[in-house]
Amino acid sequence: SILIIDFGSQVTQLIARRLREAGVYCEIHPFQNAEGAFARMQPKGVILSGSPASTSDIGSPRAPDAVFAAGVPVLGICYGEQTMMAQLGGRVETSEYREFGRAFVDIQEASPLFEGVWEKGTRHQVWMSHGDKVMALPEGFKVIAVSDGAPFAAIADETRRFYGVQFHPEVVHTPDGAKLLSNFAHRIVGLKSDWTMSAYREQMIEKIRKQVGKGRVLCALSGGVDSAVAAVLIHEAIGDQLTCVFVDHGLMRQDEGNQVVSLFREHFNIPLVSVDAADLFIGKLEGVSDPETKRKIIGGLFIDVFDAEAKKIASDGKGAPEFLAQGTLYPDVIESVSFSGGPSVTIKSHHNVGGLPARMNMKLVEPLRELFKDEVRALGRELGLPDSFVGRHPFPGPGLAIRLPGGVTREKLDILRKADAIYLDEIRKAGLYDTIWQAFAVLLPVQTVGVMGDGRTYDSVLALRAVTSVDGMTADFYPYDMNFLGRAATRIINEVKGINRVVYDVTSKPPGTIEWE
Ligand code: XMP
Repeated sequence: SILIIDFGSQVTQLIARRLREAGVYCEIHPFQNAEGAFARMQPKGVILSGSPASTSDIGSPRAPDAVFAAGVPVLGICYGEQTMMAQLGGRVETSEYREFGRAFVDIQEASPLFEGVWEKGTRHQVWMSHGDKVMALPEGFKVIAVSDGAPFAAIADETRRFYGVQFHPEVVHTPDGAKLLSNFAHRIVGLKSDWTMSAYREQMIEKIRKQVGKGRVLCALSGGVDSAVAAVLIHEAIGDQLTCVFVDHGLMRQDEGNQVVSLFREHFNIPLVSVDAADLFIGKLEGVSDPETKRKIIGGLFIDVFDAEAKKIASDGKGAPEFLAQGTLYPDVIESVSFSGGPSVTIKSHHNVGGLPARMNMKLVEPLRELFKDEVRALGRELGLPDSFVGRHPFPGPGLAIRLPGGVTREKLDILRKADAIYLDEIRKAGLYDTIWQAFAVLLPVQTVGVMGDGRTYDSVLALRAVTSVDGMTADFYPYDMNFLGRAATRIINEVKGINRVVYDVTSKPPGTIEWE
């Protein structure tokens, strides 16, 4: 495996993405815990990430000395290169000439890092982001590439197998960067491409069996991809020691609840308890318009209903479940490095079932903790989940309740559900579903005047939203062709009673968020 030591760069996760794509297992750990992680993992290679810090700042972070003493290959990226230089006896200074964004490097020496990618004497585009630069190299290092702003754009000590690059190979703006990282992992560290989802499936099945023994596991299915993949994997490991619970809060999209129930019961033959709690949820939401209050009500009720169901299952004579399965993903687990110190503000409380395990006093089974979202999708396909399910757009836990600004009523939910289904149908027909990261409709608490046939209407406005994104943290609105929007709007207004006007949301995130509430 490879250990990635995180010094707080915005793009550290991408290093892990690129290595995993190259079939290599790696873990990210913040520099504060790197020493322990290094001792525990005994990695075959180490990568030092970039950072917003400067090596000349007092108290700026360093890599554990053990990393350089263990005889394993090390690759320093940007700040990682600079701290390696500073720690091994070179000199780094804050430079007047800063390089940000696109730059070009000239390859001066052949190196296993460049093999099959960049030849000596050629010039290549890279993405830089640095103010500091290396002024003098430690013993044993030589320059292998230069750029206008960085005479040490890439350096190597081929004997000790220490490498440094001033640019960021992990971002797509360094077109051959992924190949460079794969060279580090395969040619320099010597790892094989054995991180595949079929290998992961086998390993995890063993691990789950070991953890759970003869115990029982409960899994809350949300209707989304993560909990479904976790449940199918666990069922493969321990069979009917697993019971799934699907709480239908009545805030799902059209047919979504039925699809989950039939997929699990009929297709996979997995024991599933489905609870129809729509009246309870919608009743409690009546007249509530504050978005965070909606989330709290939904999160709290979910725990109540789930807890009550768990008690019923516990009294079925087969023993009380002691484990709770969750579809936690790797990005939720990575500890982030913060330089600002203070707590960040809560924009929205997303993790509305977070209180479940503590309140129920259960041990967690989290078989997806090591995976990124696209790896979960690949694992889902590997496990035989249908493509149409695995490729689903993300859907928020509080469901349609946060797509109805203002109070929630059954009538409004019905209108929104119908309109949303038509919109998604048009997106699929246009072949855009997989290009768009998330698309949905929002029913506005605004009425406007229209004319249909010979009559006046005074009905609701529907807003359509579609975004492209990688991880939901930032997003761009999707630039539809106007003909598409016209087609979708006409169908919605003709087919859904209660809507007489459709608008399209052209806000990116930031400054907007993806959902309206
Ligand atoms: P925002 O609106 O914060 O959304 O830009 C980012 C992603 O998170 C989803 N989202 C939620 N998911 N519970 C969830 O499980 C929530 O309360 C929640 N709010 C937003 C949203 O759909 C998008 O994919």
